Amino acid sequence: MSEIVAEGKNIVRDYIVPGGMFHKARTVRALKGVDFSVERGKTLALVGESGCGKSTLARIITMIDAQTDGELTIEGQKVDISGTRPTPEQRRKVQIVFQNPYGSLNPRQKVGDVLMEPLLLNTDYSATDRRDRAHDLLKKVGLGPEHFDRYPHMFSGGQRQRIAIARALILNPSLLVLDEPVSALDLSVQAQILNLLADLQDEFNLTYIFVSHDLSVVRYICDEIMVMYFGEVVERGSRDQVFTDPQHAYTQTLFKATPRADVESIRARLAAKQAKMAAGN
Ligand SMILES: Nc1ncnc2c1ncn2[C@@H]1O[C@H](COP(=O)(O)OP(=O)(O)O)[C@@H](O)[C@H]1O
Ligand SMILES: [Mg+2]
Repeated sequence: MSEIVAEGKNIVRDYIVPGGMFHKARTVRALKGVDFSVERGKTLALVGESGCGKSTLARIITMIDAQTDGELTIEGQKVDISGTRPTPEQRRKVQIVFQNPYGSLNPRQKVGDVLMEPLLLNTDYSATDRRDRAHDLLKKVGLGPEHFDRYPHMFSGGQRQRIAIARALILNPSLLVLDEPVSALDLSVQAQILNLLADLQDEFNLTYIFVSHDLSVVRYICDEIMVMYFGEVVERGSRDQVFTDPQHAYTQTLFKATPRADVESIRARLAAKQAKMAAGN
């Protein structure tokens, strides 16, 4: 049975841009009433050009930023942080991985501490349990115990993104929001990280909202696609629907603008998954 993990109805976000000496303050409507929903174990891709409102929506879903209007529901609970702060339990449910693996990790924190910090703040795990869990997560993202005491600057961009993913998963969130998680990486590294995300999703039945300006990146890992244009959803559908028969003129333009990424390994992986499903597994 399908189960909705996160849902938004008519989400609006206005930004007030302050005025200056020669112009008045004005309101920019970054989200013009966006609806979305994502089912457990699935990936919803959010695509569209830079400036269309993807990160704004990602921050609202992650409870970093408040919507101006509309209703956000996470695991059946309404969330509106403009009035009341989310509880630690609500915060734990949604985690985010940002685009920039250089900026998102504290350079003065060793990787082990980066990973253990959320446990220290949010659980009553013992020091040993925190350490074990951090080691466990390092392994899950393809790193090892030798990385535990190193600093972020000693890692490549792809490795840093693995660390960010491990940290995001350490509290067992219901939903992982990935805001352009591979956009700063080389193509070959992009494919590795996409494969890792797909493997983790399979293993833990994770739910993703995957934000990208690049259709070729989401092509092989998403189940549903939502195309945004100037703060509005202009197209939504299953991956197959949108890729085989895009309805909106803007989606078609987006396809033309999209270079082919190095997705052969992802394609192979998807074929294997489909074969497995067809075999009734
Ligand atoms: N803090 C802010 N203040 C004012 N305008 C903003 C702010 N953040 C985003 N915007 C505007 O909202 C729109 C959507 O931005 P964003 O959500 O970052 O788009 P995307 O992630 O799709 O590139 C843009 O026009 C952007 O300039
Ligand atoms: Mg963005």
